[in-house]
Amino acid sequence: MSALNANELLRVESLAKTFTLHLHGGARLPVVHGVSLSVMAGECVVLGGPSGVGKSSILKMVGGSYLAGEGRILVADGERVVDVARAAPREILDLRRRVVGSVSQFLRVIPRVAAIDIVAAAAQEAGFDRDAAGARAAALLARLRLPEALWRLPPATFSGGEQQRVNIARGFAGAHRLLVLDEPTASLDAANREAVIALIAERKAQGSGFLAIFHDDDVRARVADRIVDVARFSDREAA
Ligand SMILES: Nc1ncnc2c1ncn2[C@@H]1O[C@H](COP(=O)(O)OP(=O)(O)OP(=O)(O)O)[C@@H](O)[C@H]1O
Ligand SMILES: [Mg+2]
Repeated sequence: MSALNANELLRVESLAKTFTLHLHGGARLPVVHGVSLSVMAGECVVLGGPSGVGKSSILKMVGGSYLAGEGRILVADGERVVDVARAAPREILDLRRRVVGSVSQFLRVIPRVAAIDIVAAAAQEAGFDRDAAGARAAALLARLRLPEALWRLPPATFSGGEQQRVNIARGFAGAHRLLVLDEPTASLDAANREAVIALIAERKAQGSGFLAIFHDDDVRARVADRIVDVARFSDREAA
């Protein structure tokens, strides 16, 4: 396996994905092919392109929740390089705890767990001890302006924007070197978007890298170091 360059956190090479719809007679739905990109330390690479072109699918393959069809997804884990496209499930889980963090478009959590405990649990999984994890969770929820009255409540009944801020806090609670973000600011108002932009800038300055999707042009312009147009890798466009 080839090594990554110095400061390279992620290199995707010739990645392809075709969904096979088993419930629909095994119909095959090609999505992307030949996806190549890389993310350096301190850099935010944003995926662009129209709806359905395969942006979220690429993020999910990098995060290990979708299986890659073909190609390589090389991730730096200290001195090691892991190919997520070929890693065993156990290895992917370990990587997600320590190295590759993610913020999905919507919060999915276990019912009845308090917001602050959801965030603290993510910090503990990433290696912070109990006290440090609790402090980190509180600091993140405060920065993301979640009212303190909500911290000890489960997010099931929170508004969309409140749930999303818990989701973002959870994604940022660890010390992941690489973060994948799928439209994290879509349901946020201007002040809350600012808080997320500041968090991203801070983590970039600390050397983290981002692979992200933002529909909001203003947010994108402010956080993106590079934009990769996924349409050029799309099987859909060619069809
Ligand atoms: N689990 C899945 N099973 C089958 N098809 C899927 C699955 N996930 C995604 N797809 C299909 O892959 C295509 C790309 O979806 P994807 O969510 O990656 O697009 P996107 O670029 O993120 O779009 P949007 O901007 O609307 O979020 C879509 O046609 C979608 O229906
Ligand atoms: Mg998407």
